[in-house]
Amino acid sequence: MEHLQKTAIAGIGFHVPDRIVKNSDLEQWMDTSDEWIIERSGIKERRWIANEGGASSLAIQAAKNAMEDAKVTPDEIDLVICATITSDYFFPGISAQVQEALGLGLVGAFDIKAACSAFVYALSVGDQFIKSGQSKNILVIGAEVQSTALDISTRGRNVSVLFGDGAGAAILKRSLDDSEILSTHLHSEGRFLKELWLEAPASKYKSRITKKMLDEGRQYPIMNGREVFRNAVRRFPQVIHEAMDANHLTIDDITQIIPHQANLRISQSVAKRMGVSMDKVFSNIHKYGNTTAASIPIALTEARNEGKFKRGDHIILAAFGAGFRWASAAIKW
Ligand code: UT7
Repeated sequence: MEHLQKTAIAGIGFHVPDRIVKNSDLEQWMDTSDEWIIERSGIKERRWIANEGGASSLAIQAAKNAMEDAKVTPDEIDLVICATITSDYFFPGISAQVQEALGLGLVGAFDIKAACSAFVYALSVGDQFIKSGQSKNILVIGAEVQSTALDISTRGRNVSVLFGDGAGAAILKRSLDDSEILSTHLHSEGRFLKELWLEAPASKYKSRITKKMLDEGRQYPIMNGREVFRNAVRRFPQVIHEAMDANHLTIDDITQIIPHQANLRISQSVAKRMGVSMDKVFSNIHKYGNTTAASIPIALTEARNEGKFKRGDHIILAAFGAGFRWASAAIKW
C-alpha cells in the first residue's frame, strides 16, 4: 500500500431509553439490595427499554446524534458497522435495519459480535477501511438491549443487576489535521468461553432450544463473576500499556482513559495499577450499568461533553469482556 490515510473521529453521540430502573426496583423481583449492588459494582440505576424496540431502535437514534455532531448527511455515509450481541433478531443483524431507517444509500453494512470489546473492534475495522481509502465516512455503532434477555429472578441476580440498555455511535472520516486514531490493539482467549456466555438458542443443537433447556435457564446469560473480574483487572492495564507503548506515550501524556463500564471496582483497580487517580479514568456506570458494546461510545460522548478531554489531547479506549476478548485504541482527539 502506498500512502495510508489517517482516520479521525468526526462526531459522536449516544441514546439510552427513558425508563430508569433503580436498584430498589430490582428488589421486587429478586433477593438483592441497593447496598449490595452499589458496594459490589458502583451501579445505582440502569436504563431498560419500556416495551418492544430492540437494539436497532437505540442504534438509529444514537447514529442520528453522532451524524448531527459530525455534520454529515445520510448520503455521505458509505459504510455501517454495528457492534452488538443483542441484535433484534437471530439474523441478519441490525446494521441493515440502521441503513434502511436512516435513509442511507445502498452501502455496505455488517455487524460485529465481540461483546464488551466490540466497539473497539468495530473502530479498528473502520479505521482500516478509512486508511486504505476504501471508505470516506463510516458510521460505527455499539448498541445493546440486554434487559429482555435477563433472568430477573434470584437465580440470575449476579448478572441481571449489572446490565443495561443503550447505544453510542461515532463517525469516522479521513483526518485532515492532527486528530487521529493512532493505533488499535485486539486480543482474545477462547478457552474462557463459558465464563461469560449465553448458550441457547444454538446452532450446535439440532432444535436449537428445547423446553428442557428453557426450564434449566440456558437461554439466559451466565457469568462466573470472580473469574471475569480476575482477568479484567489484569488485561485492562496490559492493553492500555500496549496502546501507550505503540505510540511512545507515557501515562502522563494521557488525558483520559475511557474504559468499558463493567464494574466501578474494576476501574478503580485499573487506576491503581496504572498509578493514576480516578480523575483520569472515566466512569458513568452508576447511571447506566454495563451496556456491553454501547458502554464505550456512551462514556466517550459523556466524557467529551463534560470537558474531560479536548482537541489535541491523547485518550485511550480500553475494553474487556466475553470471549474473553480485550482491546484498546489510542486516539489523538
Ligand atoms: O463486561 C464484562 C463482564 N462483566 C464483568 O466484568 C463483571 C466482573 N465481575 C464482577 O463485577 C463481580 O464478580 C460481581 C459484581 C458480578 C460479583 O461481585 P463479587 O464480589 O465477585 O461477588 P460474588 O459473586 O463472589 O458473590 C458474593 C455473594 C454470593 O453469596 P455467598 O455465596 O457469599 O452467600 C452471591 O450469591 O453475593 C451473592 N450475590 C448477590 N447478593 C445480592 C450475587 N449476586 C447478588 C445480588 N444481590 N445481585
